[in-house]
Amino acid sequence: MPYEPVLLARVNKPGSHALDGYRADGGYATFEKALKDLKPEALTAQVKDSGLRGRGGAGFPTGLKWTFLPKDHPGPVYLCVNADESEPCTYNNRVLMEKDPHQVLEGVLLTCHAIKSQKAFFYIRYEYGDAFRAVQGAVDELYAAKLLGPNVLGSGKTFDVVVHRGAGAYICGEETGLIESLEGKRAWPRIKPPFPAVEGAFRKPTIVNNVETLACVTQIVKRGKEWFQSLGVPPDPKNPRDAGSYGPKLYTLAGHVNKPVCVELPMGVTCRELVEVHGGGVWKGRKAKAVNPGGLSMGYLDVDAPLKGGADGQTEYDIPLDFNGPGRVGCLGLGTAAVTVIDDQTSMVDVLHNTCQFFAHESCGQCTPCREGTGWMLKIVDRMRRGQGRKEDLDILVDVADRIGIMPGTTICGLADGAGWPVKTAIRKFRAEFEAAIRSGERSKYAKSLAMAGAH
Ligand SMILES: Cc1cc2nc3c(=O)[nH]c(=O)nc-3n(C[C@H](O)[C@H](O)[C@H](O)COP(=O)(O)O)c2cc1C
Ligand code: SF4
Repeated sequence: MPYEPVLLARVNKPGSHALDGYRADGGYATFEKALKDLKPEALTAQVKDSGLRGRGGAGFPTGLKWTFLPKDHPGPVYLCVNADESEPCTYNNRVLMEKDPHQVLEGVLLTCHAIKSQKAFFYIRYEYGDAFRAVQGAVDELYAAKLLGPNVLGSGKTFDVVVHRGAGAYICGEETGLIESLEGKRAWPRIKPPFPAVEGAFRKPTIVNNVETLACVTQIVKRGKEWFQSLGVPPDPKNPRDAGSYGPKLYTLAGHVNKPVCVELPMGVTCRELVEVHGGGVWKGRKAKAVNPGGLSMGYLDVDAPLKGGADGQTEYDIPLDFNGPGRVGCLGLGTAAVTVIDDQTSMVDVLHNTCQFFAHESCGQCTPCREGTGWMLKIVDRMRRGQGRKEDLDILVDVADRIGIMPGTTICGLADGAGWPVKTAIRKFRAEFEAAIRSGERSKYAKSLAMAGAH
């Protein structure tokens, strides 16, 4: 039986963004009931037991994160909604905010109740004008309906939501960069610990959660943790650190695919099924060569490489898109589940150049390994695509990529890991193509077209 969407169930309805339609569909009844019947601790336990893991990229267990708040803190405690969504090719938060903002805001109210917070900051990517207007409109409706403000639903509790327009940089999505930016400063990530749950916005305990995570909270409290666990993938017994990948997931498709859409499926659909069935296949009748399984910073999988430990004939294209799958083929993780397809006519040198340009531009510059490393990688790949690559360049690139990031312990935040992963996976998996490009001494395909246009 085809899967019936839950998170996207309302997005194609006329006026799906408005409060009256949301309430007609049963909206805010879950919050009303929870506010009356559920103590914050019980609500937190429900979310923790559901197995929900954050949808913002790291997959951290949501309920567990909420328990990190200091007990009996005099307050205030804050919720920051991370709607910065700047990972290339990721747009599931945008769809939720533009089309069904109240589903997210109900999750915000439930989370505020669970973490004993009176105030949420909704931090929206600067470029998302329509989403900003939709969320601000929905918040205004909630104040008018007295679902926000003092004494909500006669509970004696106050809930406020402040909508904040982001500062227009990728690093504003890193949770402590977001907090700095919210406080009116440059979005320079903070050294951790202390983590935001202990010392976050305005130096107060703060929970940062992604938009899709909060929409899941609404559905878990409405439908129950058993419903959530009935979807997705249980923990991998071969990986003791895997906490399972439960629930529905919004996957976004982009790149050389026929239908670049946002689809909702139970966690664990294979990359092949997602692209070939839900994305309508690779465009122009071509074949896929490489795929980013979860946003640019997760690295590349090689569509033709045999899948280690997989069935006969399976390739990396057959990995399940759950929290555990992409790591099995050397990628960083599921990330934002933004799947970008690269067709077989595209030069990996050009792909890597584009990738390096992004990270070198977005590095905030605080840590030398990231600031200089992303710049060096860009310069080397730029030289390569102009036909001036050197034999030793590939090893230098992998070496730089291996040394920058929080994993090797040389940077403050994960942007540098995300900059390194596409470089090392592209070179390790498509080395022959890079070597041939260096040997030929020719400009890459895209560099040639730029040169012909007189732009290079
Ligand atoms: C460079 C960088 C950019 C990030 N951008 C986003 C983003 O745009 N949206 C997001 O939700 N998380 C982003 N994250 C992850 C956040 O730091 C944080 O883990 C997340 O918001 C937590 O929410 P969740 O637990 O609901 O996933 C980013 C992390 C890094 C290192
Ligand atoms: S790793 Fe890069 S983006 Fe992150 S704080 Fe350091 S310089 Fe800034």
